[in-house]
Amino acid sequence: MTKSITSTSRRRFLGGVGAAAGVAAATSSVPTRFAIGQQAKIKVGILLPYTGTFAALGHNITDAMKLAINQAGGKLGGREIEYIAVDSEADPAKATANTNKLVVGSKVDVITGPVHSGVAAAMVKITREEETLTVISNAGAGAATGEMCAPNIFRTSFTNWQPAFPCGSVVLKDGHKRVVMMYWKYAAGFEFAGGFRDSFVPGGGTVMKEIQVDFPNVEFQAHLTEIAALKPDAVYVFFAGGGAAKFVKDYHAAGIKIPLYGSGFLTDGVLQAQDEAAVGIKTTLHYANDLDNPANKKFRADFKAATNRDADVYAVQGYDTGTFLVQAYAAVNGDTGAKKQIIAAMEKATIDSPRGKFTFSKAHNPIQNIYLRQVKAPGQEVFLGVAHEALADPAKGCKMA
Ligand code: BEZ
Repeated sequence: MTKSITSTSRRRFLGGVGAAAGVAAATSSVPTRFAIGQQAKIKVGILLPYTGTFAALGHNITDAMKLAINQAGGKLGGREIEYIAVDSEADPAKATANTNKLVVGSKVDVITGPVHSGVAAAMVKITREEETLTVISNAGAGAATGEMCAPNIFRTSFTNWQPAFPCGSVVLKDGHKRVVMMYWKYAAGFEFAGGFRDSFVPGGGTVMKEIQVDFPNVEFQAHLTEIAALKPDAVYVFFAGGGAAKFVKDYHAAGIKIPLYGSGFLTDGVLQAQDEAAVGIKTTLHYANDLDNPANKKFRADFKAATNRDADVYAVQGYDTGTFLVQAYAAVNGDTGAKKQIIAAMEKATIDSPRGKFTFSKAHNPIQNIYLRQVKAPGQEVFLGVAHEALADPAKGCKMA
């Protein structure tokens, strides 16, 4: 069990952050108490999947985060780093125990991750209470920067609503009015479906059916037969990692010619495995491999050189998490006790990301472009345009927003 925060300490913490909002992240404000602790390593907790259907996502996020920090000298605010990684297994049932290992057991200064929205829900419940600095590097659970938002919780990735919302308009613009949706049956799937509906239905579209598949199940055959029989104009899906690779191959093998749309997680990181099965798929996401900006070109080359793997959206999020931590701790010369100043610096940060520059909303979520991409040939996905510029999540229920 975690300790529960008293309303007094909660008020003190929130009040402190409010007072810090107008304070420049100046190193001159770093307290002297810091001198003794300065020699200790900063503990960076990592809760990511290294096994199961999301394993590759966890590795790319981790390696790219370390790459960004190494490129900045391998330290945070001048202090050495101890990385403590726990395999989340993308399993919500183990998320409370795994988070406690890092927060209560290892007493990390900051925790990063996870990939799975169900794991994120359990993680932020604890870090909100324990006031542990938290940087979500993938999971899109709306609640983390919605009703569960807190001064110490930030996200460098996306909310599930963000990449989904513009896709409804894309599908309508392509002339498709009747869709079937299919997604994993957990928070992320529900939120991707909701985001898509939010633009598709008011625009005149009809959702014929929503097919839900238990996570991490990849038995799609019976559902594909049903889709073929329903004959929608288009299909919109949310799957990611190993499940996305399998879904696209099964869809193609079933001989279904109905246009396939999805969040960009459908193809990111698995495009080579999908080969010709992915050709034609259109997706929306906050990243595209071929974005023409200097940060993206340098990042892709550096990530390839460091890992011998191609970068994808997960690597971008990890890289931006590393950059974010570098900036935050530089603002306080590595004084992990200066929480108010760290948070104030984070709130003001601009990240020069491979996805394009972004800043943070009042709820601590990226305000970012969502891009339209299409697979034109096996292994070749191209940027078609900006589907929605500088999109902010509505942050429903967040009192800070
Ligand atoms: C999620 O559970 O939030 C998620 C997992 C993989 C990709 C995108 C979102």
